[in-house]
Amino acid sequence: MEVRRASITAVGHYVPEKILTNADLEKMVDTNDEWIRTRTGIRERHILKKGATSDLAVKAVQQVLTNRGITAEEIELIIVATITPDMMLPATACVVQEKIGASKAWGFDLNAACSGFLYAVSVGARFIETGVHSKVIVIGADKMSSITDYTDRNTCVLFGDAAGVVLLEPTDEKDYGIIDQCMYSDGAGGAFLNIKGGGSLNPPTHETIDKKLHYVFQDGKSVFKSAVVCMADVSEEIMKRNHLKGRDIAWLVPHQANLRIIEATAQRMGIDSSKVMINIDRYGNTTAATIPLCLSEWWQAGKLKRGQNIVLAAFGAGYTWGSMLLKWSLVNPEKP
Ligand code: UT7
Repeated sequence: MEVRRASITAVGHYVPEKILTNADLEKMVDTNDEWIRTRTGIRERHILKKGATSDLAVKAVQQVLTNRGITAEEIELIIVATITPDMMLPATACVVQEKIGASKAWGFDLNAACSGFLYAVSVGARFIETGVHSKVIVIGADKMSSITDYTDRNTCVLFGDAAGVVLLEPTDEKDYGIIDQCMYSDGAGGAFLNIKGGGSLNPPTHETIDKKLHYVFQDGKSVFKSAVVCMADVSEEIMKRNHLKGRDIAWLVPHQANLRIIEATAQRMGIDSSKVMINIDRYGNTTAATIPLCLSEWWQAGKLKRGQNIVLAAFGAGYTWGSMLLKWSLVNPEKP
């Protein structure tokens, strides 16, 4: 039986205007531009001053609808990967649905932190492959500034706000679209990267606020060690499984948490750095948004070609991690 594959048929992204530079952070905590650049690769990040994650998402979805030339009523399913929902309830997917007027869609949120976009594409693709839906919107969006402690130099230099979106549709083209995936999680990693307050374990109280339990906590060194191994392992695994060598891959699209993790992954895959999408210098770690933000920027810049093999790879809280192999089918925008 022929497999009905899911393919990315439109991309879009949004970053808020306000920029927080390393120089700005030097005035807020005991840090410096040199440390941040050499340890992480980050120069600046964008911050949403007013509004919520859904506002970032809506702007990115609107770009996707324009790029594909469809209306919001044609969307059948909305999946929002986020760890910064507008509210605990309702799901941000429902907020987005209402704001864009996707009256025929249903939707839900998915929490897999920095791997959230990969997990969400995986779920969305199954709805396409099984014939249940033909237009699925997958959103990776996070307002990380809402859960960042700007007095903690260990974390506040790392994160930024953004949204990236893809539209998934079925493709008739043989061997195009989403080809394969390797997905993992390991709950033992929860101790090293978490937000302890606000859930059923530690509902909000004066004490949870005083203890700063509503902010991201990260044991950076422990997370780094696991991220470096897992991202490289899972990227190598998907290449081996599909009999691909470094030269067969046109682009590696890694989660943007740390330039050193990205470089280690590319090295293990035998991929030249010119074939790695990197924008961490301008946006920092935008959690679920990093991968679609890269795809959208590179597509807009005309750098993606039909038929290219593209590997997506991510690692994040949970721990969660994974890789995905795509054969790119979307043509670039026409240049004026
Ligand atoms: O996206 C989800 C997954 N997350 C990741 O993949 C992130 C993984 N971790 C990392 O990227 C890195 O561990 C960090 C960038 C977070 C930290 O880099 P590091 O090289 O692991 O530094 P460290 O945490 O071991 O800290 C080294 C030193 C410490 O000082 P001492 O104890 O050696 O005196 C820190 O206090 O650097 C100090 N430090 C800073 N100094 C200046 C920590 N943060 C800062 C800072 N500015 N912002």
